[in-house]
Amino acid sequence: MGIPHFLVIPYPVQGHVNPLMQLSEALAKHGCKITFLNTEFNHKRANSCGGGLDSLKEQGLKFVTLPDGLDPEDDRSDHHKVLVSIKTNMPALLPKLIQDINALDVENNITCIVVTMNMGWALQVGHKLGIEGAVLWTASATSLATCYCIPRLIDDGIIDSEGIPTKKQEVQLSPNMPKMVGADFPWGGLGKIFFPYIVKEMKTLELGEWWLCNTTSDLEPGALATSPRFLPIGPLMESDTNKSSFWEEDTTCLDWLDQQPPQSVVYVSFGSLATVEPNQFKELALGLDLLNRPFLWVVRPSNDNNKVNHAYSDEFHGCKGKIVNWAPQRKILDHPAIACFISHCGWNSTIEGVCSGIPFLCCPFFSDQFVNRSYICDVWKVGLKLDKDENGLILKGEIRKKVDQLLENEDIKARSLKLKELSLKNSVKGGQSSKNLEKFINWAK
Ligand code: UDX
Repeated sequence: MGIPHFLVIPYPVQGHVNPLMQLSEALAKHGCKITFLNTEFNHKRANSCGGGLDSLKEQGLKFVTLPDGLDPEDDRSDHHKVLVSIKTNMPALLPKLIQDINALDVENNITCIVVTMNMGWALQVGHKLGIEGAVLWTASATSLATCYCIPRLIDDGIIDSEGIPTKKQEVQLSPNMPKMVGADFPWGGLGKIFFPYIVKEMKTLELGEWWLCNTTSDLEPGALATSPRFLPIGPLMESDTNKSSFWEEDTTCLDWLDQQPPQSVVYVSFGSLATVEPNQFKELALGLDLLNRPFLWVVRPSNDNNKVNHAYSDEFHGCKGKIVNWAPQRKILDHPAIACFISHCGWNSTIEGVCSGIPFLCCPFFSDQFVNRSYICDVWKVGLKLDKDENGLILKGEIRKKVDQLLENEDIKARSLKLKELSLKNSVKGGQSSKNLEKFINWAK
């Protein structure tokens, strides 16, 4: 049997690049060959942020690039524009790239293409060339199950052909899954054009023999039972660093954390895409000021060419806290000084928080983040919700109240530690996810 050679292709956002990089590292440790395809723009960006791409090259990962078709100064926070440009430009360039990669490595030609959501077109290219494919689903298996069940949801009259719920009732896709309302569906709140887009994309993702999920059978048993194609291989925790960050990590916060008492610091981060509106930003700042404890807050520059667009109110002191542009999140969450995580509940952050045994305060922004909150608060019971007032704002008093409630709750803390243990067991040798990864590699051979 030859060595499997994976060509891995993430959609160019941080929440897709990070888990695919972790998967690539895991596959490389099993002796597989990895060629990682970045867009030219992102590759430059990750390199200029001093990330760990060089250390990955030492592990045998190869990097290749293709242009995304946009100009360097174009706004890449406009995902519609990015998607259209990628799908117009990249499919025609991929066959030649594959040919070149194979010509350089005649002994080990590409055996499998692994993509994330939005890059199903690459599976179509591979299919035409006789190359097998797989998908790494970077959100929860529950969101994948929901997208997979769209035809059933339409047939059962739960949603109409535009994805809009026909009734207000709660839906449970399968036993052991949380009940959802329309706003919980992954396409809820993304706008009208995204529903038909998801339906179409799901068809191309079906070319993937496996739908690898960064989850475990303990975390999402119901969702994983939806289709035999779902293969849980999480938690993807191969390394404690994100080696392809799009912003420069401010590592001074690790030294700062070393100076803080154990389990004292509130960590606040909303991932790489969410935008905090100015009113909410001010309220959050004042809420953190009210806490009688230190905080570490990631205030990310905007995705639109790194503009800093946040205004602190004059009343904000911030003297107990540290504010950074971008943090080494995995290391932060594992630091003994961290007490809890105020999170937007993006799936990567959810899994990373779970694997560090940290309790959550949840404020989802869009898409799958609402269901992730249901898992955190209602199913696993390792966090609390931050409630909005009648104007849709989480007020400073709510932040202070919930931080106090969370950190006084010994049951939540104990459950968080137990969930960490249960989750990590899956990835060690002999664990279910580790066996699944071996099964995937053997299939690729
Ligand atoms: C997106 C979607 O928003 C999310 O709902 C979906 O589940 C995955 O894709 P994003 O919003 O960026 O991702 O959130 P998340 O999934 O949490 O990913 C953020 C990544 O950035 C994490 O791996 C986190 O470790 C990393 N990060 C975040 C840092 O390395 N430093 C930071 O300061 C903040």
